[in-house]
Amino acid sequence: MKERILVTGGTGFIGSHTVVELQNSGYDVVIIDNLSNSSADVVDGIEKITGIRPDFEQLDCLDYEGLDKVFAKYGNIKSIIHFAASKAVGESVQKPLLYYRNNLVSLINLLELMPKYGVKGIVFSSSCTVYGQPDVLPVTEDAPIKVAESPYGNTKQINEEIIRDTIKSGSPIQAILLRYFNPIGAHPTAIIGEMPNGVPQNLIPFLTQTAIGIREKLSVFGDDYNTPDGSCIRDYINVVDLAKAHVVAIDRILQDKQDEQVEVFNIGTGRGLSVLELIHAFEESTGVKLNYQIVGRRAGDIEQVWANPDKANNVLGWKAESTIEDTLRSAWKWQQKLREDGVQ
Ligand code: UD1
Repeated sequence: MKERILVTGGTGFIGSHTVVELQNSGYDVVIIDNLSNSSADVVDGIEKITGIRPDFEQLDCLDYEGLDKVFAKYGNIKSIIHFAASKAVGESVQKPLLYYRNNLVSLINLLELMPKYGVKGIVFSSSCTVYGQPDVLPVTEDAPIKVAESPYGNTKQINEEIIRDTIKSGSPIQAILLRYFNPIGAHPTAIIGEMPNGVPQNLIPFLTQTAIGIREKLSVFGDDYNTPDGSCIRDYINVVDLAKAHVVAIDRILQDKQDEQVEVFNIGTGRGLSVLELIHAFEESTGVKLNYQIVGRRAGDIEQVWANPDKANNVLGWKAESTIEDTLRSAWKWQQKLREDGVQ
């Protein structure tokens, strides 16, 4: 029998790509999503790609009773991938309590229910934001955790601690914390991709919306950083590669391969790219010219961060495979598909 995985936030950007890769690897998937930042149409998209319709429950992870019923209904959930969370850095500064409630209580509910239903493990979506501005680059998993720059970032740090403390207290669960760098791109079929609500805050959706004419100009936030071209540096990771890291993590939990009950891995390429380099790579790989201007720095931005992914490469046996050109082309193809479909 196929093993069943519960994916919270499974209709979101990273969640939907992960559901596809789980199904491609033979897992049976149940999605929970409250659709606060995604649409039920994504379930159709997933089915179109894989030929398999995942089970879908529209539910908020804050709803403990509702979660309890889902675990009871599906019976044999072996492991969880927990994506469901609020993720806008700026909004988290305006609405800290919303972020703390959503992001902390959701995880607590899942951790409480796991032993009751014999769920073996959880893969948690963490972020490189926990490192703040690292002192040493590329950053490794044992770099110190810095004081969070935003309530959003703080929820990632606290959630990591909640998982560690739960395990320390004797909970039988297994956990893998994946610290993502900057996920970008879309599925190569352009059937699923990133769907930001309103004006995008993240670089790639703003960039592709500018390229297609929805936005007039892309603002580059600062060219006076201490980097070779003055713009910020990030490690941009293809969303399908990132999705595959989750499948490997789930395999590792279910096959009892973990060295420790809680493990943490950086999920990045190991390559830092500046905002300006990324813009030029987009122009070169798609042949589309971008209208952009340099403006002042954005409050709270980290100057430069990129991963040392050696641990994920060697221990997890996962490696980012896509080129940045292919990834940017996939983001562009997705934006064009949204236009064709009259969505954006
Ligand atoms: C941030 C968070 C990250 C979170 C992610 C999700 C921090 C340090 N990082 O990533 O944890 O998972 O959001 O939303 O809090 N940029 C422009 N113009 C734009 C948009 C962005 O120049 O219009 C630049 C930014 O200054 C930055 C880079 O592009 O240097 C990437 O920005 P973005 O895509 O927003 O991601 P992060 O801020 O790195």
